[in-house]
Amino acid sequence: ADPLKVHAAARGKYFGDAVDNNEITDAQYRPLIASEFSQLTPGNAMKWDSTEPTQGQFSYTRGDEIVSLARANGQTVRGHTLVWHQQTPNWVQNLDATALRSALQNHITNVVNHYEGQLYAWDVVNEALNDDGTMRNSFWYAKLGSSYIADAFRAARAADPDVKLYINDYNTDGMGAKSNAMYTLVQSLLSQGVPIDGVGFQAHLAIQYGFPSQMQQNLQRFADLGLDVAITELDVRMQLPSDSTKLATQATYFKNVIDACLAVTRCVGITTWGYTDKYSWVPNTFPGEGAALLVDESFRQKPAYTAVHDAL
Ligand code: XIL
Repeated sequence: ADPLKVHAAARGKYFGDAVDNNEITDAQYRPLIASEFSQLTPGNAMKWDSTEPTQGQFSYTRGDEIVSLARANGQTVRGHTLVWHQQTPNWVQNLDATALRSALQNHITNVVNHYEGQLYAWDVVNEALNDDGTMRNSFWYAKLGSSYIADAFRAARAADPDVKLYINDYNTDGMGAKSNAMYTLVQSLLSQGVPIDGVGFQAHLAIQYGFPSQMQQNLQRFADLGLDVAITELDVRMQLPSDSTKLATQATYFKNVIDACLAVTRCVGITTWGYTDKYSWVPNTFPGEGAALLVDESFRQKPAYTAVHDAL
């Protein structure tokens, strides 16, 4: 009766959820996706291995399903993601530089064209940086150098003149070497006239690593470049088992992220990377860690839910 999305909207922000196709048929979850959230991100359905598993053969079924749910719910969609070093088929990774450059162009043209007019934003390039601020030596960078980033944005803009184009990364949430490098990269893209509209801050946080320093100031310096900013993949993991102390710390982390976004006019919204611990990616990726989301496996609201509700 008192959903998170309504509070967010009253503050001028969206509140979003990342969902996968297997989750949206969960009879307990599906109504909560509709009631609590005003934006959806497909957790996997628009990644390269889903959309172009074989060269030149595009598959939009899973992405379309999430877009159509969002439309039925009156929700916007952030497309995720066009260019990444993970979940990209081997056929792409094995191409030589010339063929890779055309595959990038062709992939973006097709996928962005397909979703033209249906998405609010695209994460065009995901996780291009290392934690020390150097360029990640992915197959993209190894074969094409940093030019693949500008090329990707230009191809996306050519295919859809209106969708917001984002660069997205993790461990850039607070001030530090990696966010400084992102700042320099984005400045350089802007100075070359590359069409970029926003910077996404994943905010995959962990209570054992502390809260990122000066998040609000960090978001603000990107906003001051004339860009939108967004919290795109928020979760706050902990070492299992959870207990009331850890859950209380987690709640303050969620609140602090909401507060940082609310304090920055150009912060357009917050997306949590899932809603229920039942479907979180964390236990599969960080063994021994979990309990990272707002409600538990049985959809019971955690202290973090109340903290977000009260902060919004
Ligand atoms: C994760 C998905 O949630 C998992 O289901 C999948 O197995 C791996 O990828 N950063 C990103 C997301 O940008 O795409 C990742 O999503 C989580 C980390």
